[in-house]
Amino acid sequence: MEIEIIDFQKHGDDRGGLVSLELNNNIPFDIKRVYYIFDTLSDVTRGRHAHKRLRQLTVAVKGSCRFLLDDGNNKLEIVLNCASQGLYIGPGVWREMSDFSDDCVLLVLADDIYDEADYIRDYQQFLDAVNDQQLDG
Ligand code: TYD
Repeated sequence: MEIEIIDFQKHGDDRGGLVSLELNNNIPFDIKRVYYIFDTLSDVTRGRHAHKRLRQLTVAVKGSCRFLLDDGNNKLEIVLNCASQGLYIGPGVWREMSDFSDDCVLLVLADDIYDEADYIRDYQQFLDAVNDQQLDG
């Protein structure tokens, strides 16, 4: 499965925390888009899609949430709850996010602008694409 947990260097001191996300240092792609997810209700599941080509890195800059990751053959659960830890998700990985804490802010960096044509939002279509080896990952 094309995923990786990346531990960022903390530059914080006794005044507070600081993490820097920098191309060619700790971000493994050219960043073309940044978005953030916040105020998600705790009983909501988000995501429920895979991307054909998009690469993303997500950080729970505040609070926590659970990721279910699935490459069509294997499934994995990861809880993001640390502002100095990123989760890289490559193409061809189905993701579902749940168990958002009330204060959760999920920052997402992406290597391309928003393009609905890059999404696979139907799980059976995702499995078919994996079996037909249509996905980049
Ligand atoms: P959606 O993909 O459903 O969010 P999630 O994966 O968190 O469940 O996106 C919600 C809406 O926002 C949908 O109408 C598409 C739109 N959107 C953008 O316009 N730009 C973006 O960069 C993203 C990620 C979503």
